[in-house]
Amino acid sequence: MSYKNLLSETQNGITTITINRPAKLNALNRETIKELHEAFKKADADKKIKVIIVTGSGEKAFVAGADISEFSDFSVAQGEQLAAEGQAKLFDFVAHLSTPVIAAVNGFALGGGLELAMAAHFRTASENAKMGLPEVSLGVIPGYGGTQRLPHLVGKGRAMELIMTAGMIDAHQALQYGLVNHVTSREELMDLTIAIAEKIKRNSSVAIASAIAAINAGYEDGENGFDEEITQFGKCFGTADFHEGTQAFLEKRKANFPGK
Ligand code: COA
Repeated sequence: MSYKNLLSETQNGITTITINRPAKLNALNRETIKELHEAFKKADADKKIKVIIVTGSGEKAFVAGADISEFSDFSVAQGEQLAAEGQAKLFDFVAHLSTPVIAAVNGFALGGGLELAMAAHFRTASENAKMGLPEVSLGVIPGYGGTQRLPHLVGKGRAMELIMTAGMIDAHQALQYGLVNHVTSREELMDLTIAIAEKIKRNSSVAIASAIAAINAGYEDGENGFDEEITQFGKCFGTADFHEGTQAFLEKRKANFPGK
């Protein structure tokens, strides 16, 4: 499938989705959100794809936010719908995928850009990355999960300050905050991210999907993460991957997971 605003490439079981509107710093317009939904859905449905990496094209930006030109004249109802639709189609959708998603933050990740990076399961960043939720400088608040995911990742006080000041932090501060897991040069960002994806690929994809579900449950309203862990733990015992993983250990050989 070809996209207008994205590039999607798969190599050795790793799909890289690149948001490709560099002239607009990869700002997320409605069409891009729709295409991202399709691209993530397609990659997640393909059992041969073990890891998805999302990044931005060009040298400056991961994503500089939602496309401001699209919503500047919206009403209250349209604003609410914009957030609800975006969360359902992209941000919650990505957070709940069973295939691991890594955001490789290669420049500005602002507003919806940082929200997309935070919806991914974890993040790497290049040294030139700058992150923030500047929405209050536009008279609005983060609407794609930012008020929830930022405090989960960095703590309430830091999230309050970052959102209230509409400020930006650099990659090293993001690393110190735990917002990103690794920082490297721009040239090495994709190699580093792919190296992490390769490590993930060696493990059972069905167990990883269970781990994602259990970890996510701890952050969901009305769900009990410990209960979900028990359910998912039990579920693993019925998988071919569990059989292979334990047999391989006992036979002192490398596991060759069937992925089911
Ligand atoms: N929505 C729509 N267009 C955007 C955008 C966004 N969020 N972010 C950048 N762009 C566009 C600019 O309008 C400009 O388009 P133009 O060349 O047609 O005028 C182009 O991308 C380049 O941006 P520019 O502002 O010229 O780059 P810069 O290097 O001077 O500044 C930023 C970079 C990221 C600091 C600045 O673009 C910015 O503040 N963007 C908005 C960030 C934001 O508030 N995001 C949250 C949205 S809810």
